[in-house]
Amino acid sequence: MNPVFPSSWLSLVLIFLTTSKGVSGATFTVTNKCGYTVWPGILSNAGSSPLESTGFELPSGGSRSFQAPPNWSGRFWGRTGCTFDPSTGQGSCSTGDCSTNQLECKGQNANPPATLAEFTVQSGGQDFYDVSLVDGYNLPMIVEPNGGSGSCMMTGCAADLNQQCPAELKVGSGDACKSACEAFGNPEYCCSGAYASPDTCKPSTYSEMFKAACPKSYSYAYDDATSTFTCSGADYFITFCPSVASQKSARDSSANAGTSSTNTSSGAEPGGFDSSWFSNILTGDSSCNNVSSSARLFALICSTMVVLFLRL
Ligand SMILES: *[C@@H]1O[C@H](CO)[C@@H](O)[C@H](O)[C@H]1NC(C)=O
Ligand SMILES: *[C@@H]1O[C@H](CO)[C@@H](O)[C@H](O)[C@H]1NC(C)=O
Ligand SMILES: *[C@@H]1O[C@H](CO)[C@@H](O)[C@H](O)[C@H]1NC(C)=O
Repeated sequence: MNPVFPSSWLSLVLIFLTTSKGVSGATFTVTNKCGYTVWPGILSNAGSSPLESTGFELPSGGSRSFQAPPNWSGRFWGRTGCTFDPSTGQGSCSTGDCSTNQLECKGQNANPPATLAEFTVQSGGQDFYDVSLVDGYNLPMIVEPNGGSGSCMMTGCAADLNQQCPAELKVGSGDACKSACEAFGNPEYCCSGAYASPDTCKPSTYSEMFKAACPKSYSYAYDDATSTFTCSGADYFITFCPSVASQKSARDSSANAGTSSTNTSSGAEPGGFDSSWFSNILTGDSSCNNVSSSARLFALICSTMVVLFLRL
């Protein structure tokens, strides 16, 4: 028998244990393809530990990865037009600012308008992710799962909505585009008061404008059915200003992140889940958390055996 068998087997087990999503949680890789610097902000939801950074500078072309703990939930966004004093570290951003007056956001949320990438990772179960324009838009952003099982579609808003923003929603000279809720505050735009349910809160001409430009993004609070995506056991790429070429090369041809010229009616159906899933998550109902852990274990054992076989 091969004398290295026990130790190589042990190291393989260790490798698989440490790379298994059920144990370690997802890796998020944030990439800036904009022609300008972006200062991403990261907010962990209540009950999730913060990632390694809560706010950092990402030059054009730059990329940075974060290992999330199991069952992490939270959001990523991009701040633009930031200036931080090199000596004091103090400063602010013209869009997406988090009001800390410094580089790190330290548990503070993005000030709208800001494009948001939202994640609920369920280690050993199904992750939910979306790109939301409910709090407005400040820059193009897409989310692409890497690996994982399930439908795992790319989502996001690749279009430049600052160009198409109606004057009454525009911030500055086109730095960002407010939601109608933020601009006007009416309950029917905000899905509040008498409009605080999926039955009463309907798309507005404004949210429809966002939806037409970015069909896979949340355009108003109850836009779940075409805006929430699922995948199990994946890592995630979050890209600011994705190029048109990279959208076209996406492995799933139906996963176009949405330019205004695209008919996504064939690809936009996340398929079969109840639009109350979000409240289920909030209330801890695990009916969506339905990926067999024995399937995961089987895959782990199989891949261990294959690698082991190849090495012997
Ligand atoms: C993650 O959440 C699932 C239930 O959704 C739970 O079974 C599991 O133990 C959690 N894992 C960790 C490491 O907290
Ligand atoms: C998209 O395609 C569907 C059918 O596949 C069609 O009914 C709809 O009119 C199309 N929309 C656009 C904008 O082309
Ligand atoms: C799991 O999903 C299947 C369909 O995919 C469904 O029939 C079953 O009821 C689900 N189980 C739970 C606990 O939700």
